[in-house]
Amino acid sequence: MIHIKNLFKQFGPNKVLQGLSLEISNNEILVIVGRSGSGKSVLIKHIMGLMKPDSGEVLIDEIDMTQLEGPKLYSTLTNIGMIFQMGALFDSMTIEENVGFFLKEHQMVAGKKIQKSDMKEIVRSTLAKVGIEGTMELYPADLSGGMRKRASIARSVIYKPKYLFYDEPTTGLDPVTAENIGRLIVAQQNELQGTSVVVSHDIATSLMIADRIALIENGVIEVIAKPKEFMEYNHPTIRKFNHVVGDYKLHGSLR
Ligand SMILES: Nc1ncnc2c1ncn2[C@@H]1O[C@H](COP(=O)(O)OP(=O)(O)O)[C@@H](O)[C@H]1O
Ligand SMILES: [Mg+2]
Repeated sequence: MIHIKNLFKQFGPNKVLQGLSLEISNNEILVIVGRSGSGKSVLIKHIMGLMKPDSGEVLIDEIDMTQLEGPKLYSTLTNIGMIFQMGALFDSMTIEENVGFFLKEHQMVAGKKIQKSDMKEIVRSTLAKVGIEGTMELYPADLSGGMRKRASIARSVIYKPKYLFYDEPTTGLDPVTAENIGRLIVAQQNELQGTSVVVSHDIATSLMIADRIALIENGVIEVIAKPKEFMEYNHPTIRKFNHVVGDYKLHGSLR
């Protein structure tokens, strides 16, 4: 359970979060939509404790992420997976090394050590799970955009986090690849049974994967609802979304 209470954050005169409150339930996929620059990435960084607010609280299972730093923050982050906007794979590492990276780190923090051969097997099966088996020896530059996203998702789901955050997972992908990444997000949610928070401005994929959709505008969540009610909500930005997707019944929900 994530409970965000009255979050404020400004950069100089730029007021980005202006008293934002939001509750995210266990076992849901919440998609947060909003125009570019509306504060989606800033919000996710606050939820993960990577950015500190001017005021307000972010409770994850009753732990206030705004107060955590150093080792305490790190140990909480072992419960959280983050798929960054650009994939953010390490260019100089193979896919095998990339995908095993955080699992290895987290095990070290927990004082455990995984045998090399076990590690290889876990990476191999995780790559198969996300549909890119056979890429172990390749480098990120060898992969297509969609495959890089999959590798980035594998790097998080490998340690079975309770919370998964995706920042613009379908940006820059063609519609078919975007839909496949959407399916993968739903599959991971079904398997891990945790909570997924997806930031997106791809409304078609959002409608497909979301249990609820939240609109961030003017520094707050202006609308939050199930996909159908969301699209029927009378709000200028949502009217524009309707324009983009046309008849939303065309987009089958996977939830
Ligand atoms: N570290 C930072 N320093 C100053 N301004 C920032 C910083 N991070 C984000 N911003 C500003 O906050 C606003 C929201 O950014 P962001 O959350 O990245 O938007 P988006 O919704 O596109 O993800 C933008 O105006 C951006 O310029
Ligand atoms: Mg962003």
